[in-house]
Amino acid sequence: MPSLSRTGVAIDQDLLDSFDRLIEKRGYKNRSEALRDLIRDSLIADAVDNNKEMAATLTIVYDHHVPILSEKLIEMQHHAGGQVLTSTHVHLDDHCCLEVILMKGNARDLQQVADSILSLRGVKNGKLVLTSSGD
Ligand code: NI
Repeated sequence: MPSLSRTGVAIDQDLLDSFDRLIEKRGYKNRSEALRDLIRDSLIADAVDNNKEMAATLTIVYDHHVPILSEKLIEMQHHAGGQVLTSTHVHLDDHCCLEVILMKGNARDLQQVADSILSLRGVKNGKLVLTSSGD
């Protein structure tokens, strides 16, 4: 377990009040954990900017009745250069499927795979989440 450092931060009272209201709404028990998460988010954003190796989940909802969409999705995942590790598929209703695609690779490549899938006709909704161990 890494050692813990304590630090003090000078911050405008109004800004701190707003932050406290936000973190309470989000269910944080204290400021420290909320600040640690903000720092981790910044480190992940920096890793994305620097095209570092990352893990990602791409969640999509699509209409499987749209002609050849299912085939296109399979084809794209096969040709994603080994970035796609696995996927999970759930039949939501008569028309819609939910799929979560797990990937690993350089941030920009993962973004590119996600963009090409999300822009397909019939993909109604989706989101790419890039993450890393923070190391
Ligand atoms: Ni389905």
